[in-house]
Amino acid sequence: MESLISLVNRLQRACTALGDNGEDNALPTLWDALPSIAVVGGQSSGKSSVLESIVGKDFLPRGSGIVTRRPLVLQLHRIDEGREYAEFGHLPRKRFTDFAAVRKEIADETDRETGRSKQISSVPIYLSIYSPNVVNLTLIDLPGLTKVAVEGQPESIVHDIENMVRTYIEKPNCIILAISPANQDLATSDAIKISREVDPKGERTFGVLTKIDLMDKGTDAVDILEGKAYKLQFPWIGVVNRSQADINKNVDMIAARRREREYFAQTPEYKHLAHRMGSEHLGKVMSKHLESIIKSRIPGLQSLINKTIIELESESSRLGRPVATDAGGKLYMIMEIVRIFDGIFKEHLDGVRSGGDK
Ligand code: GDP
Ligand code: NA
Ligand code: MG
Repeated sequence: MESLISLVNRLQRACTALGDNGEDNALPTLWDALPSIAVVGGQSSGKSSVLESIVGKDFLPRGSGIVTRRPLVLQLHRIDEGREYAEFGHLPRKRFTDFAAVRKEIADETDRETGRSKQISSVPIYLSIYSPNVVNLTLIDLPGLTKVAVEGQPESIVHDIENMVRTYIEKPNCIILAISPANQDLATSDAIKISREVDPKGERTFGVLTKIDLMDKGTDAVDILEGKAYKLQFPWIGVVNRSQADINKNVDMIAARRREREYFAQTPEYKHLAHRMGSEHLGKVMSKHLESIIKSRIPGLQSLINKTIIELESESSRLGRPVATDAGGKLYMIMEIVRIFDGIFKEHLDGVRSGGDK
C-alpha cells in the first residue's frame, strides 16, 4: 500500500502546478479532497525538530522568532536504494544532495516571496525528499502560532498566522499533528486550542508531547501519555528531540534517535510505554493512518474525477471543439491527474483482489 501514498504525493504536486493560475474552480476542490498532515504549535514548541526527526535529516531553517514564514509542503518518498536527494517544486530539475543547501534554499525562497521582512505569506514552498530512510508521507510545516507581534511585524501578524494555520487544518482531510511542549501547562497549549476549534471531536488530531526531558524534577507526563489526563481520541505520543546544546554540538539524527529510544526504554516512569513513544513510532503511526484515510476516501475522489471530466466535456462542447486543441500545460496536467487517479484505483483494486489489503 505504500505506493498508494506515493501516487497521492504525485497527485498533490500535479494539482498544485495546475492550480497555479487560480482560475479553475474544479481544482481547489480536487486539492481539498486529498489527505495531508499539518504540523501546528506555538513558536519553539519543537515543530521543526519533530519534522526533522520524522525525516531523519537536518534541513529546516531554525532560530528564535518567526523563522517559518511560508507553509512548507514536504513530500517524503521512500526509495529502495541509492543516495537521498531533495527537489523543490520551484526548481524542478535541480537535485539537492546537500541538505544544508536545502535549508538555505528554503530561506532564500521564503525571502523571494516575502522580501527580507518578517512578513508571512500563505504561498507554500514545495519540497520533495527521496530517501531509503523515510516512510511515504506528506507533511505541511506551518508558521508557529504566536501571542504577540515582534518589532518589524504588523500587529495583525498574530491573527494572520492563526488564520493561515486554520486554512490548512480546517480541511476535513487534514490530519493535525498538534505539537505541545511537556514543560508548559497543556491547558495553555496553542496547538490543542486551535485543533479543538477545527476538530472538536479529535477525529483527526494527534497530540505530540515534546521536551519530555525538560520537565521539572519530580514531575512527569505519565498521566497524559497513558490517556488519564487531556485525553485525545488517539493516544498522545511523547518525543525527545535534540536540545539546543545538541544542535550546537552537531549531534546527528542517528545518535539523537538512539538516545531517544534509550530515554524511553530506560526511564522507569516511561519504560512500560516505550513501544509507543518516540519519533520513529510517530512516523509509522502517521503513515498507517494516512493509508486508512486514503482508502476510505477513494469513492469520493472517484466522483470528483468524474465531475472534473464532465466539466471538461462541457467546456469542450461550449468551445465547439475538443479542449485538447487548446493544448498547453493545463490540459496536460489534467490528463496527468486523471492518469494518477486511475493508478490509485487500480492499485486499490489490485490490493483488494489479491487480498493484500491490510
Ligand atoms: P519550532 O519553533 O516549533 O519549530 O521549534 P524548534 O524545533 O525550532 O525547537 C525550538 C528549541 O527547542 C530548539 O532549541 C530545540 O533544540 C529545542 N527542543 C525541541 N524539542 C526538544 C526536546 O524534546 N527536548 C529538548 N531538550 N529540547 C528540545
Ligand atoms: Na523556533
Ligand atoms: Mg520552526
